[in-house]
Amino acid sequence: MRITLEYWRQNGPSDTGHFETRDVEVDDHASFLEMLDVLNEELLADGTEPVAFDSDCREGICGQCGLVINGDPHGPLRTTTCQLHMRSFKDGDKITIEPWRSTAFPVLKDLIVDRSAFDRIIQAGGYISVNTGAAPDAHSQLVPKQNADLAFEAAACIGCGACVAACPNGSGMLFTAAKVVHLGLLPQGQPERKTRALNMIRQHDDEGFGGCTNLGECEAACPKEIPIEFISMLNRDILAGAPK
Ligand code: SF4
Ligand code: FES
Repeated sequence: MRITLEYWRQNGPSDTGHFETRDVEVDDHASFLEMLDVLNEELLADGTEPVAFDSDCREGICGQCGLVINGDPHGPLRTTTCQLHMRSFKDGDKITIEPWRSTAFPVLKDLIVDRSAFDRIIQAGGYISVNTGAAPDAHSQLVPKQNADLAFEAAACIGCGACVAACPNGSGMLFTAAKVVHLGLLPQGQPERKTRALNMIRQHDDEGFGGCTNLGECEAACPKEIPIEFISMLNRDILAGAPK
């Protein structure tokens, strides 16, 4: 298939950036990232700098890849960019590729953004503050099945940032909620549950993410189907931990 690519070029956070356009011929069974590999091989053959983009596992588990494709974070399917294939497009299509657009995710180069704000939110939550020795046997602390299932659902968040890119407020609440709910539902997460939620939401706000106004764009874009109800659970923990 032959497609026309319109892709973003930007030399760093302070550069204004611009689009470049190029036609590419690619197998329709190729993944979206393999298509970008083809583009870069052609650019290199022309003596032009390749387009910088992020990827690692290319299996939908690491959260490294993330592009806005024709206006949608991760493209037309509810999956990660690396799991999207060119057969989702038609011969002759024009495809626009942009980085995540968010104040809290500055563009480092072309299609790569700095998502270390997410790391700092996790660091603000901490985990345990004392040495508790070796890990106990998994079955020594019983967890109700419903809590175990919900915690597992929350743990599916891969930190890709599509929720932020999709949100008109640039909110990182769905990501933060997934991390808070994951630990808050398990016995090991109880002692520091309230302070953890408060510290993580403070860091979220300090990083420049916007607030949640229940628009639901985050849930619709999330490749791991993290439900927006988790934000309500986060809000309950914040209220419980707030000074009375
Ligand atoms: S909540 Fe979903 S969209 Fe947001 S970072 Fe986690 S996996 Fe990605
Ligand atoms: S490259 Fe790991 S999720 Fe896409």
